[in-house]
Amino acid sequence: MTHPSFQFTHALCRLPSKSVTDGLRAQDQGDPDPLAFAAEHAAYISALRDAGCAVTVLPADENFPDSVFIEDPALVLNGTAIVLRPGAETRLGEAAALRPALVENMNNVVDLQTAGYVDGGDILCTDDRVLLGLSARTSEQGAADLRPLVEALGYTLHVLQTPPDILHFKTESSLLDESTVLATPALAASGAFYGMTVIETAAGEDAAANAIRVNDFVFLSAGYPNTAKRLEDAGYTSKILNTSQAALVDGGLSCMSLRYSL
Ligand code: GLY
Repeated sequence: MTHPSFQFTHALCRLPSKSVTDGLRAQDQGDPDPLAFAAEHAAYISALRDAGCAVTVLPADENFPDSVFIEDPALVLNGTAIVLRPGAETRLGEAAALRPALVENMNNVVDLQTAGYVDGGDILCTDDRVLLGLSARTSEQGAADLRPLVEALGYTLHVLQTPPDILHFKTESSLLDESTVLATPALAASGAFYGMTVIETAAGEDAAANAIRVNDFVFLSAGYPNTAKRLEDAGYTSKILNTSQAALVDGGLSCMSLRYSL
């Protein structure tokens, strides 16, 4: 049995721009260092390849400081890319800038037509469901207009609420397998994952929740040993990656790739 939610043949990434120093962030803890970011990103791409993905790496786009976070302007389901409408003003143009690469790399491309907004970081997919967290970046109108596109691809859409003050739904959660998620205690308590098994991040390790399952591995940020132990005890094999530069601009493991199968 194949699991389209975590078994992938391909990934699409975009190199971090030098302008990533202007990337959006909720709290300023200093700018990322472009060279250090490039090194972290290179290790991330190597990990995707080691996990079995053929990775296409797009050139940096200096026009968009946050464009390394390629998951936000698009959603890929069953080899079809849906071009989304990112909810931050400085990121809106990322969708059109990414579209040609989606046409080149995916089986099919459709456009979300909406006056609202949807960020890919608010979307967690299981094998047959799309969980969409409303947030400051994803609006009810965007969710309503996304629904028919998702349903046409054989998925059901479940609209949830991202906790206040959290950038994206997947800032606090990630899929571990078809019926298990890793989530912060706060998001786990919200009931968003009704019917699923939830492994909670350990105390003081909320940021570990932004992980990704890629084939046989769970990619987990460095610095969260107690959550890593929980995953190990549950039978998962982790790849620990440094995400300290991405974290300075509110990025993490999920948003640096679009993962898909053709
Ligand atoms: N810096 C990532 C974002 O705010 O979208």
